[in-house]
Amino acid sequence: MRTRIFGTGSALPKRKVSNDDLSKIMDTSDDWIKSRTGIGARHLAVEESLTELTAKAASQALEEAGILPEELDMILGATLSPDKILPSLSCELQRELGAVNAVAFDINAACSGFLFALQTADVYIRCGQYQKILVVGGEILSKMMDWNDRATCVLFGDGAGAAVVGPDEAYGVLSSIQGSNGAKGDVLLCENRENNNPYVEGKKSLSYVSMNGQEVYKFAVRTVPNAVLKAVRQAGLTIEDIDLFLLHQANIRIIESVSKRLKVPMAKFPTNLEECGNISAGSVPILLDYVNQNGMLQRGNHIVLAGFGAGLTWGASVLSW
Ligand code: COA
Repeated sequence: MRTRIFGTGSALPKRKVSNDDLSKIMDTSDDWIKSRTGIGARHLAVEESLTELTAKAASQALEEAGILPEELDMILGATLSPDKILPSLSCELQRELGAVNAVAFDINAACSGFLFALQTADVYIRCGQYQKILVVGGEILSKMMDWNDRATCVLFGDGAGAAVVGPDEAYGVLSSIQGSNGAKGDVLLCENRENNNPYVEGKKSLSYVSMNGQEVYKFAVRTVPNAVLKAVRQAGLTIEDIDLFLLHQANIRIIESVSKRLKVPMAKFPTNLEECGNISAGSVPILLDYVNQNGMLQRGNHIVLAGFGAGLTWGASVLSW
């Protein structure tokens, strides 16, 4: 028994902000951002909530899968930027969709979030506990950025992607790799909200995302190729058997480095960071929906999904589409 993806969906906020737009509110340029990251624009949520974006993505995925919201057994939401601390994004989404029979909870594994949620769904399905699971990954990171930190805020965007998964005899997830290194957590960090405990002295003010870009870069280029290779071997395949590699969209130079290390042409690495920037847990499912809707996947194709980011965390899965 395998866990197969039966439908995908995605949603981006209406407001698109180019690098040139950003150069009007901070000291940066299209040339700097594009040459170092490949990012040309990002969508920022001004009117939309994350619940609305994920609901839109989820509805498309459910429609393609031919499944009604009330048939869902489970909703797994991957996010680090839910609309509220309580209730979770997944419970808000359950209410929005009317998925009354689903159990719903969130997973926070930052940019590996969608991979970890998909891999969690895979375990529930293979053990037979649930049959119809909605996996969403989405973020509104713009509300958590330090807009005075130009080296970090220009990289990120908002949006959501979704996949509906269920059991299948032939196609689906063939192997999965997961990893974490909490000892390196401070290289990509967002501290908690202010402590309101009246007995605690020296309360800290609200903090925003901070990043040691070079350390994150080194981590990514070392870890991702190894995780991908391990997952491919575990699936009983070779790198040449893989038709498409859908990597977390953090930086084109990271993707180029992985392509070089794996000796696979860049043509097998579709990207959307030019238009979307880094959407953390939303990045892989949005890209997956793009390749799915644009007819870039044929039944039986082998694809790799891979995520990496804060925690530190990383994950890769090989699927037979
Ligand atoms: N516009 C213009 N100049 C900028 C800038 C911006 N947006 N951000 C930083 N700079 C400047 C810096 O101030 C610095 O200037 P200085 O040399 O005069 O001090 C210079 O550019 C180089 O900064 P540096 O931080 O050394 O750049 P870098 O080459 O390491 O690139 C990143 C920075 C963030 C693009 C790069 O480290 C990176 O992509 N890391 C991975 C981050 C990532 O993917 N995170 C998410 C993972 S999930």
